[in-house]
Amino acid sequence: MEPGNTPLVEMPGLAPAGTRLFAKLEWYNPTGSIKDRAAWFMFQDAKKRGLLPDGKPLIEATSGNTGIGLARLATVNNHPISICLPNTATPERKQILRAYGAELIEVEGGPNGAIAHANELVEAGHGHTVYQYGNPANPAAHEFGTAPEIARDWPLPEPPDHLVCAYGTGGTITGNSRGMRRAYPTINVHSVEPFVADPIGGMRSQDDPFQPPVADLSLVTHRWEIETQLATTMVQTTMDAEGHFVGTSSGAVLHAAQLLLEKHGGTAVAILPDAGWKYLSGAPWAG
Ligand SMILES: Cc1ncc(COP(=O)(O)O)c(C=O)c1O
Repeated sequence: MEPGNTPLVEMPGLAPAGTRLFAKLEWYNPTGSIKDRAAWFMFQDAKKRGLLPDGKPLIEATSGNTGIGLARLATVNNHPISICLPNTATPERKQILRAYGAELIEVEGGPNGAIAHANELVEAGHGHTVYQYGNPANPAAHEFGTAPEIARDWPLPEPPDHLVCAYGTGGTITGNSRGMRRAYPTINVHSVEPFVADPIGGMRSQDDPFQPPVADLSLVTHRWEIETQLATTMVQTTMDAEGHFVGTSSGAVLHAAQLLLEKHGGTAVAILPDAGWKYLSGAPWAG
């Protein structure tokens, strides 16, 4: 099953007075996150270019969601897959990865430690990496998938004023800012980031020493840094107001969307990477 065609819904319960907020619900993808799109594009691209002959092992550094999307594709296409992930990843992510057939290699040093370890394994000849941080097929999944879907489904006669994206590998914001600018030349692009010392799963700060080569932030007009605590509070607020159980990075995106609409007014489209189920063990409801 191909990813994409996720719902674009209005969230009137979260929009400040006089503004309108729409959200793209990316947990409607096959393994429950936006990263199914990049995984699909990168996997097909590697196959087309002959980089992934039948049976060749895959190796990828990921905080979880890309690995889950790739593991689904690898397993059904008979490629072994090893995932290098930070040892701080939630138990839910590890369990889902194992369920999809991946071998897990837990690494110290956060996402950057996972990237370094995966590169070592690839250099030693243990398999092929699609390397989401440097693979143009990652943003292409959004430029030619997510963004045209938003333009197709946008329900208002006037164009959206603001696009709001989480920044991680940069695939989402790079591809969507390119695709959306083509459809709406004046749209503002907002990058939502954690603080370096207060990480949020899947997200990266522009202040981090490692900046993914695939990220092109030249179309970004605004930058918002959101504390984990505020993102988590927004997860609960979104459940109360809209009945959607969003993940922590989606909480950060929605918090930034509220702030920017309060400041600038108008209409916004926010891209929500995943739902909250994978974060239950670390959430206030853990009990
Ligand atoms: C939960 C979550 N939020 C946000 C992102 C950031 O998306 P991108 O890598 O396209 O920048 C990711 C990426 O893995 C993610 O898993």
